[in-house]
Amino acid sequence: MNLFIVYAHPSEKSFTYQVLKSLIAGLKSSGHEVEISDLYQMNFCTDMTKDEYEREGLLDTSLSIPDDVIAEHRKIEKADAVIFLYPVWWSDCPAKLKGWFDRVYSVGYAYGHQKFEKEIAQMKKINYGLVLCTAGHPDDFLKETGIAESMRTAMLVDRLGVRFERKEMIILSGTLELDKVKNEHLRIAFEIGKNI
Ligand SMILES: Cc1cc2nc3c(=O)[nH]c(=O)nc-3n(C[C@H](O)[C@H](O)[C@H](O)COP(=O)(O)O)c2cc1C
Repeated sequence: MNLFIVYAHPSEKSFTYQVLKSLIAGLKSSGHEVEISDLYQMNFCTDMTKDEYEREGLLDTSLSIPDDVIAEHRKIEKADAVIFLYPVWWSDCPAKLKGWFDRVYSVGYAYGHQKFEKEIAQMKKINYGLVLCTAGHPDDFLKETGIAESMRTAMLVDRLGVRFERKEMIILSGTLELDKVKNEHLRIAFEIGKNI
């Protein structure tokens, strides 16, 4: 399969980077092709320009889609599955990844609008989408506070939405006590890649 990983962490010293390495090792062990958008390394622009907003918000599709956004569309079109990998920051993905959704999910590509004669959304339906994130808090806390559910709703119901045939979210939690969870989380990341 062709795997597209959208990765958002600024530092190679991070645990999330170790998760990325294990995930890729697992994917490669099963012979999958892997393409990565390493958003910080690419210095991916996450701010919408005025023109981009006017294309989205005011539905002015005569305005062009920027080249860096089209490049992401092409990666999506080649993919059989997409994995979003990031650390949980303030109960959501880093702004870098949020900005990827803001810009890459352009109107007419990722969603249509009733203003147009027909709902147009050219993005192909992807077989599988996985949201894989690391979180400092343990599972119990994330569940009891409702934070796990709110993250699932935002990522799976809204952002992955109908664009993915099958989708799931795995939270590698409890990283504030990394020694206790590290090996198991890295094993899980490898297995995800191997068995995807
Ligand atoms: C700015 C910032 C905000 C964070 N917010 C949360 C949070 O809201 N919930 C949580 O469980 N962990 C939070 N964490 C902890 C990260 O999720 C944790 O650092 C990550 O799982 C693994 O660390 P890494 O940066 O080494 O990859 C936060 C960390 C940072 C740096």
